This record gives sequence, structure tokens and C-alpha cells, in this order.
Amino acid sequence: MKKLLLIFLSSFLVLQIARGFDYEDKELESEESLTKLYDRWRSHHSVPRSLHEREKRFNVFRHNVMHVHNTNKMDHPYKLKLNEFADLTVHEFKNAYTGSNIKHHRMLQGPRSGLKRFMYENATAVPSSVDWREKGAVNEVKNQGKCGSCWAFSTVAAVEGINQIKTNKLVSLSEQELVDCDTRQNEGCNGGLMDIAFEFIKKNGGITTEKNYPYEGIDGKCDASKDNGEMVTIDGHEDVPENDENALLKAVANQPVSVAIDAGSSNFQFYSKGVFTGYCGTELNHGVAAVGYGADSRGRKYWIVRNSWGPGWGEKGYIKIERGIHESEGRCGIAMEASYPIKLSSSNPSKDDDLKDEL
Ligand SMILES: *[C@@H]1O[C@H](CO)[C@@H](O)[C@H](O)[C@H]1NC(C)=O
Repeated sequence: MKKLLLIFLSSFLVLQIARGFDYEDKELESEESLTKLYDRWRSHHSVPRSLHEREKRFNVFRHNVMHVHNTNKMDHPYKLKLNEFADLTVHEFKNAYTGSNIKHHRMLQGPRSGLKRFMYENATAVPSSVDWREKGAVNEVKNQGKCGSCWAFSTVAAVEGINQIKTNKLVSLSEQELVDCDTRQNEGCNGGLMDIAFEFIKKNGGITTEKNYPYEGIDGKCDASKDNGEMVTIDGHEDVPENDENALLKAVANQPVSVAIDAGSSNFQFYSKGVFTGYCGTELNHGVAAVGYGADSRGRKYWIVRNSWGPGWGEKGYIKIERGIHESEGRCGIAMEASYPIKLSSSNPSKDDDLKDEL
């Protein structure tokens, strides 16, 4: 009797562990129960769909539910969940959310410019784990929306990080300023590159705050009037030597680092938790930030990666990507194109300094 009860309970509970939207096995049993599940999912995520779209969306949803369900039954160190992307095909998902087109832009812009020097080349104090969130150098997870501006979020996360490390102040900075104003080579919602954005910030005399120039998620006109607000400055950037996870480790030990990855797989789309060892290629299409690294209780090494799809995706907006694999590009190409901003001074020019200049 006890055994029966256990089987009964576990079949209900197995998928209830993941936070957010959960389902029970019996909801997958019939067309009718799947339809109900789809409606429940839609109201949970407040996804509006026209009647015409509904059937197509339901077909995609049904396919994705089975994918999530079957993957979670396997013995992977990571789990998937039915998140807000559950009725998008992987093609639609890639177009809408991994639109930084890093590889495309890199081909247009030529080789990276910051590869000459690597200031952490001889770094020796590299702890076995680092989490810049615990050190107060990482802001709340943000949400890029349906705009291929991940390059701006990746850039800003690294600048916020080094600014906190140097000044002891965690300031939220403006992605929208980059989307609107860094348009000579980068292309706003059509993608861009982090190293070009670092050079823009340097030449621009800094980047303003999120509060002063809030995120809108659309390509806008550069608002020069917002440029004279509070600014955080950097002194340039360096690139991490490519295809070298050990070099990346030295850099992340010292500051949050902008990394480019290939996020265009359905396991990435539905990632929920654990160390991601799933399939992903090396066609770099998404900019994120490596804000630490560590290993789980079974010794599986990972990077702590901050995404910009809001707190509902992954582990409160983060993913642990497998670290130290044999391919030199790293899992999802994480070691292919990493870069970080340099900040020398421990303060930023204040409005008072500007006033002094005027007097
Ligand atoms: C690292 O050490 C080597 C050998 O001492 C030196 O030539 C090089 O400049 C150092 N690199 C940096 C970035 O300081």
C-alpha cells in the first residue's frame, strides 16, 4: 500500500519541483487534456493569441511539451521547463530572442580590436569558485524583450560590474543609450558586438544610468539631452584570448566578462536549472555575461551566466553552462569571443565637476 502510494505521489510530484508553471503527467494523456494544459499555460504567462493563430500555436506547444517531458525523464544534469517560450518553434525563438547576430556582425566588422594585450595573462590568484552576485557587482536580471539588443545588455552588465568593483557603487546603466546612440557599427535591435560598444562608451565619455535613459526595447533616436546626466566611464576594453577557457577563468576571477554564445537550441530555449550540458552549436548569436564559475556537488564545473530574458527563464534568469569541456570553443562557444571593459579610476566624473568646468 505504501509502495503504491509512493508511485502515485512521485508520478505527480516529479515535475512539480521546478518553480513557475508546472504540469502533471495526466495532463499529457489526451488531446483534450493537452488543450486544457495549453489554455492554463497561456493564462499563466498571459499570452494573447488570436483564434486563427491558436491552432498553430497549440501544435507547437504540444510538440514542445513532449520535448520538455521526454528530456526531463533522461539522466541529464540539467532540466527543462515550460517557460514563456513554450509555443514558439526554435526558429521563431532564435529570430526573436537571440538576435545579436554576433557571427554576422563579426564578419562585417573584421577581426577583434582588443586582442593585443591580456591584463590577466599572469593572474595567479584564481579561486576555485567566484560569484560576482554575492560580491554585489551584479544588478537584477533585465529583460531585452523582442529586440536583438542582447549585445547592449551584455556590454552593460560588464561595465556595471567593473564600475562596482572600482567604485564600490552598483549603478544600473542604460542599454537604450547603446541601442539608440551606438549606431555607427552596431545595429540596435538588429544586433551588434560588445567590444564595439565598449569603444563607443569610451569615446562617448561614459554611459548614463538606466534611470536617466530607460529601456524601451525598440530602435529609437539618440536623445542627446540624456547624455549629460550622471555618467560611468571606462578606459577601453580587452579581448580574452580566444578558444581558451583557462584564460576566460582568469578574466572572470577578476571581473564580470561579456561573452558571446550560441543560444539557438530548443534545450537552451527551455532551460530550467542545473548544469547545462545540452546541445548547442558555435554559431554565435547571443550576448550574455559570465558573472562567476564553480562546480556542483558531483564536481561538474560550470560558468554562471547572466541572461537578459527576465527572471522567469532558467535559474531566476541565469544559466549554469558546462565549463572545462574538451572542445576549445567551450560549451555553446562561450570561450570564442569574450571581452571586458577596463576601468582605471575609482570614481566617475560627477555633475559637480562639470559645473566646475563651466565656472
Ligand atoms: C606576464 O609575464 C611575462 C613574463 O614575465 C611578461 O613579459 C608579460 O608582460 C606579463 N603580462 C602582463 C599582461 O603583465
